[in-house]
Amino acid sequence: MGSGGREHALARKLAESPRLTELHAAPGNPGIAQLGSCHPVRADDAEGLLALARALAVELVVVGPEAPLVAGVADALRHGGIAVFGPSAGAARIEGSKRFAKDVLHATGVPTAESLAVARPPCVVKADGLAAGKGVFVCRTQAELDEALTAVSALGDRFVVEELLEGPELSVFAVCDGARAVGLPPARDFKRAFDGDDGPNTGGMGAYSPVPLAGVELADVVTTVHEPVLAELAERGTPFIGLLYAGLMLCEDGPRVLEFNCRFGDPETQAILPRLDGDLLGALAAAARGDLAGVALGSGENAAVTIVLAARDYPARGDSGSPIEGVAEAEAAGALVFHAGTALRGGTLVTNGGRILDVTATGATLAEARARAYAAAESIRFEGVRFRGDIAVEAASGATVG
Ligand code: AMP
Ligand code: GLY
Repeated sequence: MGSGGREHALARKLAESPRLTELHAAPGNPGIAQLGSCHPVRADDAEGLLALARALAVELVVVGPEAPLVAGVADALRHGGIAVFGPSAGAARIEGSKRFAKDVLHATGVPTAESLAVARPPCVVKADGLAAGKGVFVCRTQAELDEALTAVSALGDRFVVEELLEGPELSVFAVCDGARAVGLPPARDFKRAFDGDDGPNTGGMGAYSPVPLAGVELADVVTTVHEPVLAELAERGTPFIGLLYAGLMLCEDGPRVLEFNCRFGDPETQAILPRLDGDLLGALAAAARGDLAGVALGSGENAAVTIVLAARDYPARGDSGSPIEGVAEAEAAGALVFHAGTALRGGTLVTNGGRILDVTATGATLAEARARAYAAAESIRFEGVRFRGDIAVEAASGATVG
């Protein structure tokens, strides 16, 4: 379910599985259409999705985006007898409500930013509900705080205030079956629109994997962050079955949780999945059955870098109808090109969104992957195409970033 670059990357990985018989997408996109059949049912149409899943006799639904999960699409499908990789509405609150997430973190003792009773700079103000990446305000000055308070009140009256932490960030995903968690290789994303982490926050302008962890082990993160949260959610009667995404900050006293998401990250997924060994489809199906015992998902010794090609005015505005050229050239150069916001008009591939394409390349090192990804990205053309030039530049130069 879904129509972006994350879903294209998922579809591609699932299509590699020897266990896949048929691949269907709702609604999908022109990239996914090259791997399976796309059906014009929107991700927020739970009844339509259940009817489609029954008509096709699908054996597993993998949900991409957060909004339908928070709205309860996984519950509707499960009640209809369809196996789903994706949490119930109750468990998806871990992303859908910052207050709920804080409450769970406090109950488990998993390290996070301290909540503050009074909003005073420096601090971070977060709207309680889903805000598509636009609900978090880092306030270093009183002027920034005033602006943030005005903005969060426009988003709704509930918000949280917490201490401002400093340090490199890291996304750690785990496939979860309600009790067990299988970690995926860590990734880092680039949220700001422009080079040097300048400009407004976006959905994400690029990503890379692996990330030097500065002495932190993936297995330890899964044990100290994901597992206690799974136990707490199960105890509350809302076990989490799906992808639990921990957004971490590596602070001097160890990793702390900034946020949880209840689904694969975009664009981190486009960098992580091409590195993954093993059968992702088998793992997601096992998680949906509540039986991840014995499942492991290794990754290659390689690296991957993903560059997001966006419309000129993204994130303020997207673009539609501009012809896209050079995708075949980029693929011939060895890159994977994922469709994030495209459409087909009379057989021509055109822009249709804010983030248009994601170009991923792998290599033996981050430097090699980065060079290949940029060479491929340069060969793609559409009116106003824009991408950051500094994705993974520090990590590829060997500077310690962990
Ligand atoms: P979130 O949606 O909670 O991940 O927040 C989006 C971004 O805001 C994060 O990726 C961080 O860059 C930043 N952020 C969130 N919480 C904090 C915090 N407590 N201290 C510093 N930066 C934060
Ligand atoms: N890349 C950040 C997110 O998916 O929320």
